[in-house]
Amino acid sequence: TMDNWLPTLMTATPTEGFELAIKLSRMTIKSTQPDAAVRDRLRPDYAEDAGSLIAVSQVVATNFATIAAANGHWRG
Ligand code: HEM
Repeated sequence: TMDNWLPTLMTATPTEGFELAIKLSRMTIKSTQPDAAVRDRLRPDYAEDAGSLIAVSQVVATNFATIAAANGHWRG
């Protein structure tokens, strides 16, 4: 089961927010495919497929939008 791996959406900077967006996205993949060997096997497929990489970007963009909103877009 999941421990408290995501205690907060708050980040100090947009750069850290983007890193968190990537982490969130990767954790979703890990939740949906817990077998690391399967993930290792599938990695080259998406890494060499432009459409898959664009899809990855869209997932990260959606998570980044959520994180940016949670942080008030770092307007201070
Ligand atoms: C590597 C992000 C989907 C399996 C990576 C890396 C990033 C990343 C940034 C490079 C890590 C590094 O070299 O430091 C994402 C995002 C995804 C996604 C944002 C979806 C929105 C997937 C899927 C699979 C997968 C669908 C397989 C089912 C892997 C594996 C590696 C990797 C095995 C190499 C091992 C590693 O560097 O940890 N991914 N990925 N990823 N990804 Fe993905």
